[in-house]
Amino acid sequence: MTHAILFYCRPGFEADVEAEFTFKADIPGKWEIGQGFCIFLPKRPADWDKLYRTLECGDWVFPRQIIFVVEALDLPPKDRLTPILTAIDSLHEAHKGPWRDVWIEYPDTNDGKEISSFSRKFGALLDAKLAAKGLANKPDAKARLHLFFPTLERVYIGFTRPDFSVNWQLGIPRLRMPTDAPSRSTLKLAEAFMMLVPESGQVKPGMSAVDLGAAPGGWTWQMVSRGCTKIFAIDNGPMKGSMAIHPSVKHLREDGFKYRPKSPVDWLVCDMVEQPARIAALISDWLVKGHARQAIFNFKLPMKKRWNELQRCLEIIDDALDGAGIRYQIRARHLYHDREEVTCYLTKIKR
Ligand SMILES: C[S@@+](CC[C@H](N)C(=O)[O-])C[C@H]1O[C@@H](n2cnc3c(N)ncnc32)[C@H](O)[C@@H]1O
Repeated sequence: MTHAILFYCRPGFEADVEAEFTFKADIPGKWEIGQGFCIFLPKRPADWDKLYRTLECGDWVFPRQIIFVVEALDLPPKDRLTPILTAIDSLHEAHKGPWRDVWIEYPDTNDGKEISSFSRKFGALLDAKLAAKGLANKPDAKARLHLFFPTLERVYIGFTRPDFSVNWQLGIPRLRMPTDAPSRSTLKLAEAFMMLVPESGQVKPGMSAVDLGAAPGGWTWQMVSRGCTKIFAIDNGPMKGSMAIHPSVKHLREDGFKYRPKSPVDWLVCDMVEQPARIAALISDWLVKGHARQAIFNFKLPMKKRWNELQRCLEIIDDALDGAGIRYQIRARHLYHDREEVTCYLTKIKR
């Protein structure tokens, strides 16, 4: 089989993966588009090698995970294990184990969910076979083996480098919904802190924040639970549950586009449903004028060409911050808890 690159994504976002890849890698090859995944077949094997060595999934926006495929098999329903073991045995020297672990995966679709119970049983079986050969469960190994089943009749065998990939099966972080958070949106901000913000940038106890478009309070809840002791929650709508009465939270019924704090805050977070270019201009203004040093916000992207729109918004931010002589870092990612939106973390860097 020709070497291929397999991308997992939210179903419906395959074209965005393709647009991002074309923009960033721009190498010749062809695409096979599935649901919740897509596959790129590079024309030149050297491109596959180069990307395997250099491509860090965490830096990408739309792919949840990027797998480097070395084999694809059609499977007989009566015995899937034998052809897979044979294929693994005959892998090219460079890809023979041992592997850190073996992940059995499938698309994040309703059809994919039907494969999940098979994947648990099959994974245990394969794990035992490979462990007996000394090929799996080696914590220091440089690669992880992935078996991706788009259907029960087909499998893609490939690898990731754990230091360059997302450390969650299917590329999906499993987060538990906190029982007293007022909305499920809280998981979006929790995931953003986990996936986008480095250890050194995390919220520290006693920090202050502004939450634009705060109601009913899921994001505010995250900021409180992470240690912020002063949060201005800006929204005309009502805050709910504990966030309506929390002593650290001041709810202001004001327009999020007009509100500015009297003195600078540590964090700006913003989940207002608005045109992405307006959000880009607003966040830039906050950082340029020094109202906050860092921000987490999202761009709602209901349009078709999401990658292009995201680039347009990032340019607005760059024009404003670079134009004001501010050095900054920005990371954007289509999080698992995002729907038609992309979440960004933006921080100033000291000169
Ligand atoms: C997606 S909801 C926010 C959910 C919230 N982050 C949470 O975790 O519960 C968007 C909110 O933005 C608010 N909003 C939209 N435009 C606004 C504006 N111009 N000023 C203030 N709030 C606004 C809406 O009232 C709505 O409550």
